[in-house]
Amino acid sequence: MKMNPTAPMRERVAIIGGTGIDGLPGMDLHLQVVQTPYGEVTVYVVEKQPFPIVYLNRHGPNRKNPPHAINYLGNMKALQLLGVRRIFATNAVGSINRRMPPLSLVVLSDFINFTSGRPLSYYNGGDSGHAYLEMNQPYCQALRKRLLAQANLAGLDLIDGGVYGATNGPRFETPAEIRMYERLGVDLVGMTGVPESHLARELGMHYAAVAYSINWAAGLEENIQIVTQGVDRLLDRLLRLFVDVLEVESSLTCACEAALMMVRPPQEN
Ligand code: HPA
Repeated sequence: MKMNPTAPMRERVAIIGGTGIDGLPGMDLHLQVVQTPYGEVTVYVVEKQPFPIVYLNRHGPNRKNPPHAINYLGNMKALQLLGVRRIFATNAVGSINRRMPPLSLVVLSDFINFTSGRPLSYYNGGDSGHAYLEMNQPYCQALRKRLLAQANLAGLDLIDGGVYGATNGPRFETPAEIRMYERLGVDLVGMTGVPESHLARELGMHYAAVAYSINWAAGLEENIQIVTQGVDRLLDRLLRLFVDVLEVESSLTCACEAALMMVRPPQEN
């Protein structure tokens, strides 16, 4: 992708999906490849007014990257380079909390990171700089509120608040791990929510996520049973809701843009 550095960038919005999502319902998607310092990223763009929508499947084309091998740095950098300011993401999860059974949609309010070996920041010392990120409200409060309000109008049942436990994958958890996560306060487990959400924040973008549960977590039933019936319809309604909220422009009152505390900015070579 070539960009003219003097032309003002048109603001875009983005929707991120995972394994169960192949595009945006009823929309004409145009493939675009974005070059980033972290490699090539493929996205799909819908030319819509007032904001073009960028659809990113975090696993890459043909779902080639499993959760622990996703190009998290490249994906978020590509969205930033495209001028994205607001992002809604979806994550498939297993349910631990009995009040969030399979087929629940949960607007995440917090997370605990149990992953290892993933890149966690764009600021890693040396020329890349040194910065801290405030995470008192881990997901954009303004986007969360708008989504919940719009869901109410649309009659879509969203649960307000849930703690996401990010596990490394690609294997599912053991029953003992799930008992431990439950004691630590995790409601839902998934493999792809971290570091995506906080990398987006490091780059100054507003990010909120909705988890959709497709199974009870390990040990809660005799066998893991992945729910398939009803999932497509649920995701279709969720994606339409994302579009309805993102279409509306208004300033966001939240802590996201002030969250990055720069100690030493990146150095140009
Ligand atoms: N564990 C981790 N990730 C998942 C699960 C699960 O049970 N279900 C869907 N994604």
